[in-house]
Amino acid sequence: MFVSSAGMHVAVLLFAAALPLTTVALDNGLMKTPPMGWLAWERFRCDVDCEHDPKNCISENLFIDMADRLAEDGWKELGYVYVNIDDCWSSMDRDKEGRLQSDPKRFPGGIHKLARYVHDRGLKLGIYGDMGTHTCGGYPGTPLDKIKIDAQTFADWEVDMLKYDGCYSNVTEQEQGYPLMSEALNATGRPIGYSCSWPAYQGGLPPKVNYTQLGKICNLWRNYGDIQDSWDSVLNVIDWFFNNQEVLIPAAGPGRWNDPDMLLIGDFGLSMDQSRAQMALWAIMAAPLFMSNDLRTISSGARSILQNKMAITINQDPMGIQGRRIVKEKNGIEVFWRPLSSNASALVFFSRRKDMPFRYQTSLSKLNYTTGSYKAFDVFAEKTVMLKDSTDFVVSVNPSGVVMWYLSAPAKRHLRQFYKGGRSRDEGNAIPSFIL
Ligand SMILES: *[C@@H]1O[C@H](CO)[C@@H](O)[C@H](O)[C@H]1NC(C)=O
Ligand SMILES: *[C@@H]1O[C@H](CO)[C@@H](O)[C@H](O)[C@H]1NC(C)=O
Ligand SMILES: *[C@@H]1O[C@H](CO)[C@@H](O)[C@H](O)[C@H]1NC(C)=O
Ligand SMILES: *[C@@H]1O[C@H](CO)[C@@H](O)[C@H](O)[C@H]1NC(C)=O
Ligand SMILES: *[C@@H]1O[C@H](CO)[C@@H](O)[C@H](O)[C@H]1NC(C)=O
Repeated sequence: MFVSSAGMHVAVLLFAAALPLTTVALDNGLMKTPPMGWLAWERFRCDVDCEHDPKNCISENLFIDMADRLAEDGWKELGYVYVNIDDCWSSMDRDKEGRLQSDPKRFPGGIHKLARYVHDRGLKLGIYGDMGTHTCGGYPGTPLDKIKIDAQTFADWEVDMLKYDGCYSNVTEQEQGYPLMSEALNATGRPIGYSCSWPAYQGGLPPKVNYTQLGKICNLWRNYGDIQDSWDSVLNVIDWFFNNQEVLIPAAGPGRWNDPDMLLIGDFGLSMDQSRAQMALWAIMAAPLFMSNDLRTISSGARSILQNKMAITINQDPMGIQGRRIVKEKNGIEVFWRPLSSNASALVFFSRRKDMPFRYQTSLSKLNYTTGSYKAFDVFAEKTVMLKDSTDFVVSVNPSGVVMWYLSAPAKRHLRQFYKGGRSRDEGNAIPSFIL
């Protein structure tokens, strides 16, 4: 490898060196940036009581309503294009040909018609299956002997994404089933985004989980347990992902994403500050952005967080490098960083405090940014400040809230301590060549 002074070039080469060369994405050309859309589970679960709860039950009406909202309320243009069905959509019985079929009362038009409706609005349809005997909700599963037929059924329905859950299956079946489904989806000839719940059933960490393999067969994967509508749950997810960042960061990249689960923003459990924190940290993690909320009644506050253009731009950065926690202070402040294309980067200052807004003082050089002048755009306050690396600044971070910055060029930062595998020939240079 040749290290020149051309910054971007160097950064790309070093990252390539830092990642295992065998990690390549599922070859369906999909999800080069983290997928965005809406997913039913967290907000609507397995509500099949259409008699008493017609607006919220898992039915074609619910997905039509959400498709209408995505198409008409400015979501689609921002990238929120998936309308995803989760569990409890199917009939308890397969049809005469042994194919899965949707519940005839709740989906009178069938899934294919729903897919057409969604496609006519420029959106995509996702569906749910499970590699065990039953889905988690007790509906028919897609065990090994049903994988081919069900993959073909989903393709015939013109479905665009499959979440393949793992209830009621064991280790051996999962080892066979998740790769088999990947092949079966490919064999249909229809590009179908593939979300694997496999690692979440195996503790999410090596040696049980092989992230190189996952990157080859899945577009995204759930690493950890289900998110719930509470701040405690968000904290629990955040801690697991950042405590294991050394394992998870190299697994992610264009076409292959770690999935910390749905966005709760617009639901009942998070304050506005906590909602901004979830949005900011999901952007740092290059996480899929699947909202699970009621888009018919969402507040304008929650909407503006989910529709924040700069947060989405950071999430969707084409380099697809997952960010990391770089500071964990005893006082409860944590700092997160993500390298972005065009020599830019993102910083998030996060407070775990429970008292009052905390004035955190630091400088870009303390955060290992190299010499230079930076333009810092505050993502939620929508204000810009110019900073030298040496300038001490203070950010006021609310309890369980964030301040998020997008930093424009030069945005250089030493990386050597993080990517020890990357070769460096610039020891002793005044300006390190790790330029992002
Ligand atoms: C199937 O896999 C091949 C080889 O990896 C790839 O070229 C092709 O685009 C894939 N097709 C679909 C529909 O995913
Ligand atoms: C997994 O389930 C299969 C039945 O599908 C059974 O034959 C096998 O022994 C089980 N394996 C383990 C490790 O439990
Ligand atoms: C992980 O998967 C890759 C690709 O399938 C394979 O080459 C490698 O040997 C596996 N690693 C382990 C530790 O099993
Ligand atoms: C990134 O920075 C380097 C050196 O400062 C510069 O040569 C390069 O043109 C920059 N790249 C972009 C895309 O701005
Ligand atoms: C900055 O770099 C030093 C030396 O490599 C390292 O010890 C420190 O943890 C880094 N600080 C941050 C905030 O990354």
